[in-house]
Amino acid sequence: MNPYDLKKDFPILDDKTLIYLDTAASSLKPKQVIKKIDEYYEQYSVNVHRGVYNLSYVATELYEGSRKKISEFINADFNEIIFTKGASSALNLVASSYGLNNLTSTDEIIVSELEHHSQVLPWQNVSNITKAKLVYVPLNKEGRITIDNFKKVLNKNTKVVALNYISNVMGYISPIKEIIKLSHEIGAIVSVDAAQAAPHMKLDVKDIDCDFLAFSGHKMLGPTGIGVLFGKKKLLDNMPPIEFGGDMNDNVNLYDASWKEVPYKFETGTPGIAGAIGLGAAIDYLEDIGLENISKHELKLKNYTVKKMKEIEDIIVYNETAETGIITFNIDGVHPHDAVTFFDGDNICMRAGHHCAQLIIKWLEVVATLRVSFYLYNTLEDCDKFIESVKNASDFFKSVGF
Ligand SMILES: Cc1ncc(COP(=O)(O)O)c(C=O)c1O
Repeated sequence: MNPYDLKKDFPILDDKTLIYLDTAASSLKPKQVIKKIDEYYEQYSVNVHRGVYNLSYVATELYEGSRKKISEFINADFNEIIFTKGASSALNLVASSYGLNNLTSTDEIIVSELEHHSQVLPWQNVSNITKAKLVYVPLNKEGRITIDNFKKVLNKNTKVVALNYISNVMGYISPIKEIIKLSHEIGAIVSVDAAQAAPHMKLDVKDIDCDFLAFSGHKMLGPTGIGVLFGKKKLLDNMPPIEFGGDMNDNVNLYDASWKEVPYKFETGTPGIAGAIGLGAAIDYLEDIGLENISKHELKLKNYTVKKMKEIEDIIVYNETAETGIITFNIDGVHPHDAVTFFDGDNICMRAGHHCAQLIIKWLEVVATLRVSFYLYNTLEDCDKFIESVKNASDFFKSVGF
């Protein structure tokens, strides 16, 4: 893959001075995806599943075609793919439907301090309501989830394991397949937050054997407002809907109603049709390049950048050994929000703050961090410009007495 060629597909990057290093928050969108979304709004912007006319058939076919594409993308079955607003609503669906209806006060839920708020807060809520105990995997000294530490908290009371595949702050890949195997041995189910994994690595839900897996469209070249929950059919069949209304119902009586089969009982109202179609186009784009090529490229950029950053005085990198394209760091003595404003002056977009993952920021014993995240459209030249800007920032803050 040639990132210089790929850059041409992204209209925002027509601005040659722009260095976009915030893909972990949201990726840029290529024109192929934008065109597909435009096509929907210009040529067949009608509802799905309802209309008995040709345009509605066309929209329905493309919407359901996208579901098929996504199911193949992660090696799931067609009816195991539920469209949601994003990873957050997908993870909430698991907690609110499975969690609230299956857990009691004698049960335990395993999470970690490495989770995004979307993975930990829904289970805090389940724990508050059901009185099931929330248990944290101790992280090792690098801040990783390890199998040894996971074994310390897994026990016969564990009913749910809710962990990330890749951390959005540390960029570590969790040993998720082994975690799932161990969890299944004691009868627990595993819900995987794959929001940072789906855009960067080949996922295979059958191979890892997860029970649920969630991700967002907008982090993988797709539109905002669309996400995916994969769930094993036999679990989804026994879970109640958490939203009620149009299109999810079968027969409606005065005092009761029945629901459609999965996945439709979980998709209430008019869905994100353009979003689903756009996500299908994003998957085509990613598969064309190959996820292995993308992750290899990102790791190369990350290793190159970290090596150079370490040569700069005052730079603290918190996740040097990460296997993915995320660098979390600080300039010693400088608040990340001051630093990120400096970088913005060089037209570099990156993230500062707690990254919706306050627990790992507290674990690092800092108030906030800076984060760079690479994707297929980043180049070594972007890295060099960023490193130059880090050097200038370090000099500048020193000169003004920070
Ligand atoms: C690891 C992880 N999980 C979940 C989410 C939530 O995704 P969304 O905001 O698209 O719902 C994010 C977004 O940053 C994330 O990085």
